[in-house]
Amino acid sequence: MRILILSICFLALIYYAAAYDPLDPNGNVTIKWDIMSWTPDGYVAMVAINNFQMYRHIGDPGWKLSWTWAKKEVIWTMMGAQATEQGDCSKFKDNIPHCCEKKPTVVDLLPGVPYNQQVANCCHGGLLNAWGQETDDKTGSMSQFQVSVGQAGTSNKTVKLPKNFTFLGPGPGYTCGPAKVVPPTTFLAQDRRRKTQALMTWNVTCTYSQFLARKYPSCCVSLSTFYNETITPCPTCACGCEHKNNCVKSDKKIDMVGHKKDRSPLLHCTHHMCPIRVHWHVKVNYKEYWRVKLSITNFNYHTNYTQWTLVAQHPNLNKVTQVFSFNYKPLVPFGSINDTGMFYGTKFYNDLLMEAGPYGSVQSEVLMQKDENTFTFKQGWAFPRKVYFNGDECKLPPPESYPYLPNSGVNLSVSVLAMVSSFILIVFSFGVFSD
Ligand SMILES: *[C@@H]1O[C@H](CO)[C@@H](O)[C@H](O)[C@H]1NC(C)=O
Ligand SMILES: *[C@@H]1O[C@H](CO)[C@@H](O)[C@H](O)[C@H]1NC(C)=O
Ligand SMILES: *[C@@H]1O[C@H](CO)[C@@H](O)[C@H](O)[C@H]1NC(C)=O
Ligand SMILES: *[C@@H]1O[C@H](CO)[C@@H](O)[C@H](O)[C@H]1NC(C)=O
Ligand SMILES: *[C@@H]1O[C@H](CO)[C@@H](O)[C@H](O)[C@H]1NC(C)=O
Ligand SMILES: *[C@@H]1O[C@H](CO)[C@@H](O)[C@H](O)[C@H]1NC(C)=O
Ligand SMILES: *[C@@H]1O[C@H](CO)[C@@H](O)[C@H](O)[C@H]1NC(C)=O
Repeated sequence: MRILILSICFLALIYYAAAYDPLDPNGNVTIKWDIMSWTPDGYVAMVAINNFQMYRHIGDPGWKLSWTWAKKEVIWTMMGAQATEQGDCSKFKDNIPHCCEKKPTVVDLLPGVPYNQQVANCCHGGLLNAWGQETDDKTGSMSQFQVSVGQAGTSNKTVKLPKNFTFLGPGPGYTCGPAKVVPPTTFLAQDRRRKTQALMTWNVTCTYSQFLARKYPSCCVSLSTFYNETITPCPTCACGCEHKNNCVKSDKKIDMVGHKKDRSPLLHCTHHMCPIRVHWHVKVNYKEYWRVKLSITNFNYHTNYTQWTLVAQHPNLNKVTQVFSFNYKPLVPFGSINDTGMFYGTKFYNDLLMEAGPYGSVQSEVLMQKDENTFTFKQGWAFPRKVYFNGDECKLPPPESYPYLPNSGVNLSVSVLAMVSSFILIVFSFGVFSD
């Protein structure tokens, strides 16, 4: 088992170097252009952005897409999205294009724009759900807009594909490949009795790398158990101590009115200086089961995390019996190794992780069935191997600082453990939230 874990870690390291996510090997954002009609000087295309990442959503303020035109193309009109800058359209006399930039940047429209500016699946302010968080129709992880392009090719022989796509989701971290012509998309008519197809289709695939996105992690993990009173805190400066000088020592000092539009983080002062801390508490040991309590705490006064996701890797996640108050979905990245899963909030109950302060945390408990051959409290086995919050990997404490199983306690009976557990729980409830 140890060798297996080590080799997975090793594989993971190799994959990281290639900007590949071992927990979501097929994760990507795909941008698809379907040419729906040719016009006298170009074409009308329907563009669809699909978030195929299992646990990384595109949050507020939403995606931004840009590309470089291959020739002197202009955008006559757009529906469902808009170019952020019109650029220099002074060459045009009667009809002024929507955008004349060589490298246009496009953003989604906000909900509630007039119907004549909308298309299907548009106008969610650029938010895209994670693929794994979606219900059946998958429309929440998709954005669409229509673009009418002029001064362009007017047939599939003369049209030139746009180049150098960049995708912000909403920050950096994505790298997009070149546009590739693919078999034309087919559309099923509403009565499902007729199929039509695009005149030409090309795809662009973008993948995420945390190392391109940010210098430091944006979350950290702390650990505790019922069998040892030590609480292993997040590593010091786990998220870099860049904001150490303008953090806030007490909730009361926050000007609750003035800060909301400011998107730069305003953190509660902690030794780790992370906006997010995930706490993993080994809570109860039953005969055939064991129970972990998970808490996610927000230390950022400037951000509400909507549609948050938490991914954990632990060998016992193959026997999850019950998850309280969160949703759980196994991810099974390597097919047979079922050790990774995604936790996310329940709609209208705890899918919003509120800004730092009295309401800035969400909690869950996970009941897992023991596998007699592997289960142990020794050597930190009960702790997660990896934790991700919103698709970014969290900094774990060094293994040598994990709470140990007391030597005398190896043969402790369940009832004694339960007693110790409730004692520690009391200590824990007072101790851990005052960080
Ligand atoms: C993008 O993700 C989809 C869905 O997981 C997958 O089918 C497709 O092969 C991926 N594309 C690439 C280029 O990895
Ligand atoms: C192109 O992208 C769409 C999703 O936008 C996907 O369904 C399709 O499989 C992709 N085609 C290829 C050849 O990658
Ligand atoms: C271009 O269109 C012609 C028919 O007008 C078709 O035969 C050909 O396969 C198309 N080529 C591509 C690359 O779509
Ligand atoms: C592609 O876009 C990036 C960022 O806008 C820019 O730095 C780079 O020079 C562009 N490359 C080409 C070939 O246009
Ligand atoms: C977070 O959400 C709450 C409730 O919707 C709202 O009152 C608060 O202003 C939001 N905070 C931020 C920083 O957007
Ligand atoms: C993975 O584990 C979960 C429970 O933790 C179980 O519901 C699911 O069926 C397992 N999947 C596979 C492919 O073994
Ligand atoms: C609890 O774990 C710590 C290591 O984090 C260790 O130093 C300590 O001895 C342990 N306590 C007991 C009672 O074993």
